[in-house]
Amino acid sequence: MQLNKITIDREKCWFFCRGESSLIIENNIPNELMYKENECSHLYMHGDRILKVCFAQSWPKDSIRKYVWRSQAEREIDSAKLLAELGLSTPKEYFSAFSLSPFNRVESIHEMSFLNDHENLNKHISTRHNSENIVRLIAEDLVTMTNNMVCLKDFGLGNIMYHPNTHISWIDNDIKNFSDKKRLACFLMEHLIPRLLRHIDARDEEVFWNVFRARSIMYNEMMAEYLCCSN
Ligand SMILES: Nc1ncnc2c1ncn2[C@@H]1O[C@H](COP(=O)(O)OP(=O)(O)OP(=O)(O)O)[C@@H](O)[C@H]1O
Ligand SMILES: [Mg+2]
Repeated sequence: MQLNKITIDREKCWFFCRGESSLIIENNIPNELMYKENECSHLYMHGDRILKVCFAQSWPKDSIRKYVWRSQAEREIDSAKLLAELGLSTPKEYFSAFSLSPFNRVESIHEMSFLNDHENLNKHISTRHNSENIVRLIAEDLVTMTNNMVCLKDFGLGNIMYHPNTHISWIDNDIKNFSDKKRLACFLMEHLIPRLLRHIDARDEEVFWNVFRARSIMYNEMMAEYLCCSN
């Protein structure tokens, strides 16, 4: 771990850094590498790497969380590592840094491999000719996660990258562990699955449930949850 003063958007701040960055040059992130500006993050890209700058989102929650559960970047890195151990595709992580100051706009930074030839799924997937394949890939990965009693807190199509006809990769991950099947089933049915189903048509929804029926250890609990909520 190294302490460095890094300039981001003309603001200098001290960061505890881990790993090697190829986008931070002489402790500065060059503005011309800006790739995407989001409300909660800025992404910089060069060559085969992408660097995500995460902004503090809520005070004091963010600061407390940083000390108890680690920074946003570290949580993303740990979650990506866990998913990779389960055999899912995630970007390779190279570098992370976090600021200790609760008043700094930038909470943390991390640098990972740029997923070349992938497209973000944040569009209506049912209008794609290969939507069935995409839905099957998503369902298979969700089954793998939930069979291992983990789930994504922030599931959304915007956090899934699709490599046409081969695989999907998961980005912006924040994993929640469950010890109880009923609680996980409830989380899936109330929060996660509705976020997917509203973007797919009835035919793809059948594909989705077929994968769960065939492979998920959670299927019975999920159906019980469904019956309980629909009565
Ligand atoms: N490793 C990567 N390879 C390629 N593109 C990436 C990668 N990581 C992020 N992106 C691109 O940057 C966008 C935003 O990334 P991310 O979801 O991590 O940030 P965010 O702050 O949560 O943004 P959003 O609010 O859009 O979800 C993604 O939708 C994707 O297009
Ligand atoms: Mg995101």
